[in-house]
Amino acid sequence: MRLGTRLLAIILYLSGVALATSVVASPVRQRFRMDADWRFSLDTGDNSVLHGVSIDNWVWIADAAAPGDADKMAAPDLDTSGGGWAKVSVGTDVFHGRIGFAWYRTVLPALKIPNSRDCAALRFASVDDNATVYLNGKRLLHHEGWSDPFEVYLDKAWNPEGPNTLAVLVENTDGAGGIMGPVTLSIARKPDGASVPPQAKMDFKDHAWKVVHLPNDYVVESPFSRTADTSHGFHIVQPAWYRKTFTLPASFRGKTLALQFDGIYRDAKIWLNGRFLGEHKSGYIGVRYDITRIARIGGRNVLAVHVDPRQFEGWWYEGGGIYRHVWLDVENPLHVAHWGTFVISKVSGDVSRPGSANLTIRTTLVNKSSRTQSCVLASLVKDPCGVTVAKAVSGIRIKPGQSIETTQRTVVNRPMLWSLSKRNLYHLVSLVSCDGVLKDDYRTTFGIRTIKFDPNLGFFLNGKHVKIKGTCNHQDFAGVGIALTDHILDWRIAKLKSMGSNGYRCSHNPVATELLNACDKQGMLVMDENRHLGDTYSPKSSPNTPYSDLQDLKDMILRDRNHPSIIMWSICNEEPLQGTEIGARIAEAMKKVIDKLDGTRPVTAAMNGGHGKGMTQVLDLQGYNYDPSGYAWFHRNFPNIPLFGSETGSTVSDRGVYANDPAKGYVSAYDVNTPPWAQTAENAWRPVAEAPYVAGSFCWTGFDYRGEPTPYGWPCINSHFGIMDMCGFPKDNFYYYLAWWGKKPLVHILPHWNWQGEEGRDIDVWCYSNCDRVELFLNGKSLGAQAMPKYGHVHWEVPYEPGKLVAKGYDNGRLAATDVVETTGPAAAIKLSPDRTKFEADGENDALVTVSITDSKGRVVPTANNMVTFQVYGPARIEGVGNGDPSCHEPDKASRRSAFNGLCMVIVQSKSKPGVIRLTAHSPGLQPATILLRTVPSPVKDL
Ligand code: GAL
Repeated sequence: MRLGTRLLAIILYLSGVALATSVVASPVRQRFRMDADWRFSLDTGDNSVLHGVSIDNWVWIADAAAPGDADKMAAPDLDTSGGGWAKVSVGTDVFHGRIGFAWYRTVLPALKIPNSRDCAALRFASVDDNATVYLNGKRLLHHEGWSDPFEVYLDKAWNPEGPNTLAVLVENTDGAGGIMGPVTLSIARKPDGASVPPQAKMDFKDHAWKVVHLPNDYVVESPFSRTADTSHGFHIVQPAWYRKTFTLPASFRGKTLALQFDGIYRDAKIWLNGRFLGEHKSGYIGVRYDITRIARIGGRNVLAVHVDPRQFEGWWYEGGGIYRHVWLDVENPLHVAHWGTFVISKVSGDVSRPGSANLTIRTTLVNKSSRTQSCVLASLVKDPCGVTVAKAVSGIRIKPGQSIETTQRTVVNRPMLWSLSKRNLYHLVSLVSCDGVLKDDYRTTFGIRTIKFDPNLGFFLNGKHVKIKGTCNHQDFAGVGIALTDHILDWRIAKLKSMGSNGYRCSHNPVATELLNACDKQGMLVMDENRHLGDTYSPKSSPNTPYSDLQDLKDMILRDRNHPSIIMWSICNEEPLQGTEIGARIAEAMKKVIDKLDGTRPVTAAMNGGHGKGMTQVLDLQGYNYDPSGYAWFHRNFPNIPLFGSETGSTVSDRGVYANDPAKGYVSAYDVNTPPWAQTAENAWRPVAEAPYVAGSFCWTGFDYRGEPTPYGWPCINSHFGIMDMCGFPKDNFYYYLAWWGKKPLVHILPHWNWQGEEGRDIDVWCYSNCDRVELFLNGKSLGAQAMPKYGHVHWEVPYEPGKLVAKGYDNGRLAATDVVETTGPAAAIKLSPDRTKFEADGENDALVTVSITDSKGRVVPTANNMVTFQVYGPARIEGVGNGDPSCHEPDKASRRSAFNGLCMVIVQSKSKPGVIRLTAHSPGLQPATILLRTVPSPVKDL
């Protein structure tokens, strides 16, 4: 009876509130975006130990018993005069590819420490890969990552009278290894863990700092340097500070307050009002702090964040800064835990048209109040039209400080399934009330669908076979670096869909939630990937991996498990341990965590070796990176393990370039260039398409990204693996995939037909098509028809004469598709084409404007490289520019950009005031262009 009354109160409450699907703004739970008005400054204060005595009198020995024998090997009195110890100088590779350990030892010179505030310190420029440093037998520090210099303060073990015996255990996980860079001993100011840096103090004057709006990547603004890290795109990387001052209203009194950072690259140290909240290393999974006790309700608050992106987590451009949203969650002390709901659906009957779906709803409640609470949890299920179609109600008693998971069951009749064509999304409304008073209202979006991987037949969604036509992607885009706005994330998914793609691999890290939302809404199958095997912060794992600490993995699963688009979890990519027993043990520990928190999706790993061994023994699904010839072998030998191409292709090509140019760092757009481990698009897709037991594949990559310039280095600063360039402009391979992934008849000609001055030269003309025959015409004259090989292309050698090339595609003798390329006139005008003309004035929403250089007839000039200058009038700013040229060193944060082969891009971002925006584009000698954009009031208000 009491329960009934409470339920009635809840239903009455529900009838009075709008059922928003995303951010909830109800009195019991409020979420504020905290992206506006941050102050930013590079951290130029150099606290590191730079000057001093160089240490280069080492002895070393290989050690198979490490790290277990540290007591003996680091002991100060160990005799190293014989027994295999040998002299070695800094910079020597002592491993030669061996994976394992080596000890280094030396005795440090005497050093007079002038006062008690200072101490002896060592700086290591590079230990490849990982180092554990001992002084006089005492372990001082463990450091992972060969490319990141580090300091060790020696005060905790320093012997002022001497001697000071140093021992360094070096671990190699791949390639060369040893103490590779200079080691310097000097006097440094003692680190004081308790002291607050001035920039983190409340009264620090930050008014001279730059104002930034999140998401923000500041590394993308840093200059290029030939000596900076190649794989990270030659950008100079420095640490930086962010500060935000905000006021909390008195109405928050009595509430629980939590700050949620969705993504900071990386090693963030966070203070609120001068109090240290914590350090968060991961650059890819967010972090949350309960600030209830520290926040000043009714007063001014200062949040300070120090980021240090210098130790990389990967081998691609990783940027730096607070590059995803920051939120303030204001909740009642009794509330649904963050990421505290999980809806599991099981459909019964015919999976393509099920009669019903049984839902299991797991909800975690937290009681942060000081008394025991008896409450009611009412879980209401809303269908995609907003109609309540199921509910479950439970009574729960929860003690102070306790968190309890409750399981409820209910049934949805005739569920509307989530599929690639019908993205039906349900919403769970979790209402928590005590004595008829509503305490929480938490919303979860989920989908009802079935997935199955069959070892012989591939992947099935809702009982229907779907070949996965996927791409791998890093988070990086022209003009913004890693700070992709929600709209850019959404736009990129739409671009991939327009190529016929239905799969997205999150390479090689957890992605923004907004990207997964886009996949849910647009219909994209996601391979969700964890960053580090065993949560070490080293780019590659090592046998020493502490694989019991899996917090990042847990967070990823808890955060992402309600997204219907996710069809598999990937624990890692190309880890050296993949085919070993240690690898299997780590994988087993990780899979256990995943199965406990989810258990509805298969667990996989992207392996480029060791297939059939190590991790394969524990995984549900075998990921194959490259080596398509291995698919048949694997299927024959492991007929019960489903298989897919977790990474394929790595074809290198540049948009509009038709000959390799090592000096400029360009590769031709013909599908002919690959690094040794890779395949052309045709050789990558054909084996996947032709083998029914291969569930599909994820091509490396959908979009170009900064870093990993392959095959050429400087001046090239980004990769060429993309099917689209940095701006999302299609390269010719886009049409190869569209032909075989899309649904419509298509024919596409390459190259362009602007070879003025090369009349008579034989030009290699290719056509991609899914028609059965293609006929090519030059200036109206047929050059012959050819049968189109499945998953291939046709080509002609055509002596160049200016004019028009036309390709006609025929199916069963009937014209089905046509493509035309024409010789254009010289560059005459600029054309601006925005992806949208109306968007929200929230300081973040943006429009992506394609800038084309055209001839007098409006045809894009495929060789034009004119410099274009932009100006914005009205409440907007230029967020960034780009052109897809992999060797362009012009800044991305600028109001001008040269075109690259006819195109460039300018991204226009709203300010918080709505209004009309005028964008103009000028270039000497070209007809200028102007467009109008409009921003409308936004419901999102930043705190
Ligand atoms: C793969 C690797 C990717 C990328 C790619 C380039 O082996 O997984 O991260 O480096 O090679 O071809």
